[in-house]
Amino acid sequence: MDEMLLLLLRHGAHLRPVRITSSELGSQLGMSQQNASRRLLELERSGHVERKEGGILLTKKGCTELAGVYSALKAAFEGGKIEFEGTVVSGLGEGKYYLSLQGYRKQIEAKLGFAPYAGTLNIRLDEADLWKKQHILGLDPVIIRGFKDEKRTYGDLFAYRCSVEGLECAVLVPLRTHHGPDVLEIIAPWDLKRKLKKKDGSRIRVVV
Ligand code: CDP
Repeated sequence: MDEMLLLLLRHGAHLRPVRITSSELGSQLGMSQQNASRRLLELERSGHVERKEGGILLTKKGCTELAGVYSALKAAFEGGKIEFEGTVVSGLGEGKYYLSLQGYRKQIEAKLGFAPYAGTLNIRLDEADLWKKQHILGLDPVIIRGFKDEKRTYGDLFAYRCSVEGLECAVLVPLRTHHGPDVLEIIAPWDLKRKLKKKDGSRIRVVV
């Protein structure tokens, strides 16, 4: 968390350019004018703030970073929800195979309370939301135990209840996965694409 971004937010720099000198910033942050001025320049170069109308304005990037910290703090102190919008993408068709196995299906029905549609809906998170996946992985999961059949062994799955466009679903995280760190897989009692009229590339809202 950058203290200077937070201070600028307190001064309202997310709403309008704030006229404040580097020595004022420095004294409010307990640092020298030179250090405050250097820090401000870094924030300008990294695209977190910009100069406008003789003042300092938080950019979209700066606001997004602060909003990320805000949701993390809110979730930690209030048990709040993690919300994001991502993009529907296709995978390799593996979800259909795994979600048709009785070894997983029975447990999902017992532990999550629904018979899952055979497949997982893949959602790609926006870059600014990547930290939210890590945050979800830090929550208490519903554990779907792995099992063995004649052919092979299947690993544990971690599930986290969520809502997708207001429908009760679950994020499913396999211990082993081919997906990158920016993809979340969703299971639901329905074929979500059909029910929500979504296709690859559509935007979709998730609350965990
Ligand atoms: O090919 P891919 O890995 O994306 O999909 P799958 O897990 O085999 O699922 C088959 C299809 O159903 C995909 O198009 C999924 O996006 C979709 N699906 C869905 O719409 N709703 C679900 N609850 C699960 C999967």
